[in-house]
Amino acid sequence: MMDPRKIVLVGMPGSGKSTLGRALADKLRFSFYDLDDLIEEKEGKNIARIFAEKGEGYFRKLESAVLEERLSGTEAFVLATGGGAPCYHENMQRINREGVSVFLDVPLNHILERLTGTQLAIRPLFSGMDTSEIILKLKNMYVERCPFYEMAKIKLRGEDISPELLIS
Ligand code: S3P
Repeated sequence: MMDPRKIVLVGMPGSGKSTLGRALADKLRFSFYDLDDLIEEKEGKNIARIFAEKGEGYFRKLESAVLEERLSGTEAFVLATGGGAPCYHENMQRINREGVSVFLDVPLNHILERLTGTQLAIRPLFSGMDTSEIILKLKNMYVERCPFYEMAKIKLRGEDISPELLIS
């Protein structure tokens, strides 16, 4: 059943889901969860190791299972999802059935500015790539993923998304 106290942030890596999510949860006095952290807890390994040892397919299944588990509770929360989460296994439909999805729509050039080389390199999807390969991959991901993100019930655009601005 749709519960408006289950707020789920979606968007590209580096769009500010965790930062905004934490601030919003504080303000609302809801719990804050980061889907990647929940996955790491469940598996007892960090995301990079899960990708390296088990592969992306395994990660995506685990991600969907942990998302489903989180959505099925009764607790009020703000959940920041990983950038790919809404794009696999009908996860976006599930999110919309159970709660309120919010797309943080940050233009790609802002994302590139925000994610410095090191921050990008530690993300497993970009491991071993040089900057120009990363930029190309990010552009492709952006195009492929936008249709899923656009299914969100609420869309916040670019510069509107400063936690201070939104939550003051
Ligand atoms: C991924 C984004 C990551 C993490 C994993 C895969 C993606 O989360 O879930 O590395 O497919 O975009 P962030 O969006 O928090 O970087």
